[in-house]
Amino acid sequence: MDSECYPALIVPAIGTWPRFDSPLRLGVMASGTGTNFEALQSAIACGDLDAQIRVLVVNKAGCGARDRAERLGIQCELRDHRLFASREEMDHDLVRTFQNEGVEAVVMAGWMRIVTPVLIDAFPGRLLNIHPSLLPSFKGMDAIGQCLSSGVTVTGCTVHEVLNDVDAGPIVAQAAVPILSDDTRDRLSRRIQVQEHRLLPWATALAGQRWRTAAATQG
Ligand code: GRF
Repeated sequence: MDSECYPALIVPAIGTWPRFDSPLRLGVMASGTGTNFEALQSAIACGDLDAQIRVLVVNKAGCGARDRAERLGIQCELRDHRLFASREEMDHDLVRTFQNEGVEAVVMAGWMRIVTPVLIDAFPGRLLNIHPSLLPSFKGMDAIGQCLSSGVTVTGCTVHEVLNDVDAGPIVAQAAVPILSDDTRDRLSRRIQVQEHRLLPWATALAGQRWRTAAATQG
């Protein structure tokens, strides 16, 4: 079997996509190439994910996510972390940016910065992150390198709620990916990303059901 096409061992059962009274109002944060951001927007555009991306925030001027936002016609704000005196100061700015755009929940789609309680507490249970491992294994930087050197034979990706602790928080959804004997970091990364692009929109929809139900209960 072509290892590039090897199916995920376990995939979340993607059932009927939930519909909401009005589309989820999302903010997205990205630092890298932005493929997960685009996967979210593609799921919205094809009618699966009932949501709207109000704004993308990037922290690197030259990142691919910014180019994708321009091509997709999504508002993009640059917040260069080097221009803020502290992480907290930057997070206050992010909160203001998202609140000004009427964002109800935020997806960290490859955000390579530690966030603080300033941002986490502004979106309690409504701040999601995607990580390229089956958490709680291989937290932190270079999750794929860590897993390749550990000898495990299965890895994957996780979408979780963000707590004030790196790569921790209630798990929303996971997909597992086998590690093949001839795997390289690049090939494994590519296979994990295929699953990430399926997982992130679905996990956002699942979390969205919880956010909207909680909001309705609170009146
Ligand atoms: C993803 O692999 C995600 O798991 C990690 O950062 C990467 C972002 O990739 N947190 P992209 O920028 O979405 O292509």
